[in-house]
Amino acid sequence: MQRFPGSLKFSPADEAEYLAPSDTLKSDIGEREVRMYAKNAAFAVAVALVATQASSGEASEAPASFKPCAVCHSTTAGANGVGPSLAGVYGKRAGTRSGYKYSDKMVQSGLTWDAASLTKFIADPKGTVPGSKMAFAGMKKPDDLIAVVNYLKTLK
Ligand code: HEC
Repeated sequence: MQRFPGSLKFSPADEAEYLAPSDTLKSDIGEREVRMYAKNAAFAVAVALVATQASSGEASEAPASFKPCAVCHSTTAGANGVGPSLAGVYGKRAGTRSGYKYSDKMVQSGLTWDAASLTKFIADPKGTVPGSKMAFAGMKKPDDLIAVVNYLKTLK
């Protein structure tokens, strides 16, 4: 079960709006998983939305909510800064971009970056990978998270 980050709150109306057309939920993390997440946590509602939005397969404009990330992360392959380049990060194992010195905790996290793990990590970096050196408190607004994760998916 995913933990429910306390700061993600949905009103019953929001939940109804997000969850009502459940038979139309289609995703690349699997419809059953999306439903399971969706039943269990509002955090998962964000994951479900990320997962259900079609990804165009082409790099798109960075959403406004990516701005704080860009302070430390480039989206150009190989251009590592304070943080590793995020080019091609989607679908990769955590801590494996070449030429970047990760914390041991990130390398040992065993995570693979998909919609669920990215959403969770970006919402709560320290809670998701304790000891990570990513100095970012976490993005708490579901809309912002969705926009950022969908954008990361497009970065080749
Ligand atoms: C203050 C600088 C900073 C900010 C702001 C920041 N990050 Fe990071 N990020 C890092 C560092 C440093 C690491 C490496 C962490 C480690 O090795 O423990 C990292 C790691 C990551 C990783 C794992 C990459 C990999 O190759 O495994 C992802 C994904 C990520 N950040 C996404 C984001 C997103 C999205 C945002 C904006 C919401 C963001 N970061 C904001 C510094 C930052």
